[in-house]
Amino acid sequence: MYRGCQFWRPLFLLALVFVATSFDALRALDEVTARDHALRLHERLTGVPPSSTELTLLTQLLRDGKVAEATFRVMNNNYFYKELARSFSAFADIDQQPNDTLTDFSAAVVGLTISNRRFDELFYGDILYTAPDALMTYQFGTPPVNVNHDSSPLIRVNGGAAPAGFVRPPFRCNTTGCTNATVNPDVIYDDQAHFSDLQNRFPDWPQRLVLRSQYSSYQLLRNEQKVPASSIAGVWTLQEAAREVFNAGTNRRILRLFLRLLGYELEQVHDATRPDLYVRRDVDRQPGGSVSAFQQGCRGCHAGMDGLVQAFVYFDFTGRLRYGPTFTQNAPNDFKIYRQHNIYPQGHLAVNDQWVNLWTQGPNASRIGWRTPKAITSDVTQGSGAASLAASFAGTEAFSNNLAKVVFQRICLRAPTTLEKGTLNNKARAFEEGISDYESFSANGPYNMRALHASVAEMCIGKVMP
Ligand code: HEC
Repeated sequence: MYRGCQFWRPLFLLALVFVATSFDALRALDEVTARDHALRLHERLTGVPPSSTELTLLTQLLRDGKVAEATFRVMNNNYFYKELARSFSAFADIDQQPNDTLTDFSAAVVGLTISNRRFDELFYGDILYTAPDALMTYQFGTPPVNVNHDSSPLIRVNGGAAPAGFVRPPFRCNTTGCTNATVNPDVIYDDQAHFSDLQNRFPDWPQRLVLRSQYSSYQLLRNEQKVPASSIAGVWTLQEAAREVFNAGTNRRILRLFLRLLGYELEQVHDATRPDLYVRRDVDRQPGGSVSAFQQGCRGCHAGMDGLVQAFVYFDFTGRLRYGPTFTQNAPNDFKIYRQHNIYPQGHLAVNDQWVNLWTQGPNASRIGWRTPKAITSDVTQGSGAASLAASFAGTEAFSNNLAKVVFQRICLRAPTTLEKGTLNNKARAFEEGISDYESFSANGPYNMRALHASVAEMCIGKVMP
């Protein structure tokens, strides 16, 4: 026993020395490497190089092993939010092209992040981030009309471009004759002029964003019917995304965008083993005369997809978001979602916004990691309205895992290895719960995007890497 210990002791000491040395290598970077990492961190997060004072500061933080602190410091820079807006804007576009112009979609991404609000609200929150009232209050016309903040804070008369130093309101009337601000037949709200004004005129726009409620705003606008709370779903019921997914078509396209935020293409979740109960009537059950082309092909998407997207049957977009339970009355009728309903009359007819999730079983169950969401709905297998469906997607493991991966790629500038993916998933779980270490940065709440950046940065910044 004693002899055995004697024998192992040198090896044990050697191991200790080795551990201590590699630990040192992880913690204390030499000046040159630390400077290089500081530069990388800043440039990757903001798209611009740091000032020399800032670089010195960040270098010291990294030499002291304070990666999270350095990251939070960089995230105070407005350019961090500008880059975030740009990179996330691709999620609102079917072709995944980033948009340099600020929209209600990218403003929401920034608003949630900068205000430390839970980021999963992007999917289901009743959120609309705009400029503050003061920036929208100005006079125009002869005699001058005061375009100001009154009982209808979001509807203003359109006097063309806003004077310098102001932004056009997000919702406004088409003509100068529109003085009845509460209900107006010609509300413009798809040109996103409010957001481009804000972006062009105020370099510090990320700091200025104010949170409003879509629900209250829509009460002031003419829609076929006001969008009820149960149908308000984060960025999806704002103009930028609505134009992309509810314009013509059959309101199925939105599922592509949902899945991309979860890190999947529709083709990757193809599952032809689900029952075809909810496949709509426009889908040919024998395309090109082949039953198996439907069974093996079409069904793989449409069985799951058509059940899910039923949450959106009341939406349309014709230059503005429209919402109407009446669209489906006396179905099938000439509403767009019933187009080609004669192809297979025995198929499913979507008459209300009750959705069904068949992908909680089969291969997509573990792929997506459905969990009972804490917000809005308690059932991921069925519900009614867009809000509960969107909350089900927000509650998945795939959503947080993918956010962690997206952040990793941004900071580390490469795809994670298999091993790193495991680490990222663990970090995603911590992100969901809230990371208490970041309390001093006010970033300890659940789904805090700044916390996710700080936590992920530690994987490739401040370490000696091969
Ligand atoms: C990879 C998934 C996928 C597969 C497989 C698939 N579809 Fe679709 N289908 C979609 C999506 C997404 C839309 C919505 C398209 C849009 O709005 O841009 C759609 C829309 C449709 C539409 C409505 C078109 C419209 O006017 O908006 C029909 C009809 C249709 N599919 C039939 C079929 C048939 C028939 C097959 C098999 C031959 C098939 N689909 C296979 C994903 C799929």
